[in-house]
Amino acid sequence: MGELDAVFVDEIAYTFGYCDELNPLRLSLPLLHAGLASPAMHTACELGFGHGVSVNIHAAGSTTRWYGTDFHPAHANFARRLADSAGSQAQLFGERFSEFCRRDDLPDFDFIGMHGVWSWISDENRALIVEFIRRKLKAGGVLYLSYNTQPGWTAMLPVRELMQRHFHAGVISEPHNGILAEERIQVRVKAAVDFAQAVFATQPGYALVNPLLAERVNTLSGENPNYLAHEYFAPDWQPLSFVQLASSLVAAGLTYGGSADYRDHVDEINLTPAQRALLADVADSGLRETVRDFCVNRSFRRDYWVKEPLTLSNDEREAALRAHRVILALPRASVVLKVRGALGETMLPEALYGPILDALSSHRPATLSDIENSVLGRGITLAQIVKAVTLLISTGVLLNAQNDEQISAAQPSTEKLNAAICEHARHYDEVQFLASPVSGSGVFMPRVPQLFLLARLHQMQQPAQWAEFAEPILRGASQSARATAGLPSGAAVSLAELVAKANRFAQVHLPILQALRIA
Ligand SMILES: C[S@@+](CC[C@H](N)C(=O)[O-])C[C@H]1O[C@@H](n2cnc3c(N)ncnc32)[C@H](O)[C@@H]1O
Repeated sequence: MGELDAVFVDEIAYTFGYCDELNPLRLSLPLLHAGLASPAMHTACELGFGHGVSVNIHAAGSTTRWYGTDFHPAHANFARRLADSAGSQAQLFGERFSEFCRRDDLPDFDFIGMHGVWSWISDENRALIVEFIRRKLKAGGVLYLSYNTQPGWTAMLPVRELMQRHFHAGVISEPHNGILAEERIQVRVKAAVDFAQAVFATQPGYALVNPLLAERVNTLSGENPNYLAHEYFAPDWQPLSFVQLASSLVAAGLTYGGSADYRDHVDEINLTPAQRALLADVADSGLRETVRDFCVNRSFRRDYWVKEPLTLSNDEREAALRAHRVILALPRASVVLKVRGALGETMLPEALYGPILDALSSHRPATLSDIENSVLGRGITLAQIVKAVTLLISTGVLLNAQNDEQISAAQPSTEKLNAAICEHARHYDEVQFLASPVSGSGVFMPRVPQLFLLARLHQMQQPAQWAEFAEPILRGASQSARATAGLPSGAAVSLAELVAKANRFAQVHLPILQALRIA
């Protein structure tokens, strides 16, 4: 391993993303789709939590006791500070998987999750995590795993190889010139992506037989270099097929529970009639998932696996579906009835979706049974409601909702976590999600509205006051960014613009945030 590899593995920080699939509340509908029961959620664990945005939101947003680890010191420290601010009791460690997974003081888990980890670790680490899952996941417990897969990655493999080669070429002889390791990596990542673009600009034979690749390479140049470093330049990097993964998880006692991507549960938006007819005759789950991956040319899988799953009778399944709660998370008027599946964009019929959305327009959590009662007499079946709700959650129009006791229990810790994140927004724009105790999940919230919420926390009631509060903070930020870039100072944020934003925030977004108990 060269010097840069050693630095890379330990030092470059990842992004501050949030992953909804790690919210255990999200697994009920996909498991019910497969006729399986969801476990009661007491304990959960996230491996490789990055900066810990997801684990902190899920710990603050529920009564589940969360554990987790990430060996990057900056990640683990940031995550632990957030947990302290929220008082959520999340137990977050800065240990390698090899240490953490061998601890003898961890409880057994109802849920273990990993996002963006599995394809980027060594075979040795994968084996020890499988052993951890075998040992520590409870009967009925659920594993969430995302990973790069085939055949979607196939054409890109040589491009990744090309960029890797450029990244490593001449590294040892490269002068440091006082540049930090992280910046050197960012520079080399950019140079490798530029080089791949230069190769594609010559219209090589490989690009001619793979005409979509040049566009894929071009989009890389707009990505965050720290994300690219982890995605393409990690020393361990392997897309795995469903069958490869299944062989190790089945040996650990797990059964495939279904896709965590809600759109996968509605075949009409992903598969042609001929593909559906063919799949209907494929009984073996490994073969079926492989054929589906071919049909949709999948490059990334997000899956649930269940240990010793409990199969529900049809009556039990319908009762669980009817009791499931959701909440409308957008203003009713701004809902766009469209969804994008593997077949492209599909319009969702107003005759079905309109009455369902109307039933939720009070922005209070409602069960699928409540929706069924509201649309009574329109000939809408429970199966249609389930499918509609599944697609509306996939587009972010609806969120799954917890029961009232869980919401009340999560309220104090989400309030503290959100206050800490909004305070952080005085200086940084890194964390772009706040926690809702209603959904137990993260809700996208960029820096400017976070500063408006911070102003409200400081007892400012009027939108104009929120704008006045945010303006000097944003002016300072833009001036320091301009100074770093060597540009003359100047006011980049206009107060009038911020007042307009604050008024719109008060009218359109605040009522929703209040319904989600974020404001
Ligand atoms: C691509 S990042 C994904 C982070 C986070 N799950 C997300 O999706 O935002 C992979 C994470 O796994 C952590 N990681 C990789 N190998 C590890 C190991 N052996 N032990 C502990 N953490 C590890 C890295 O520090 C990094 O934060």
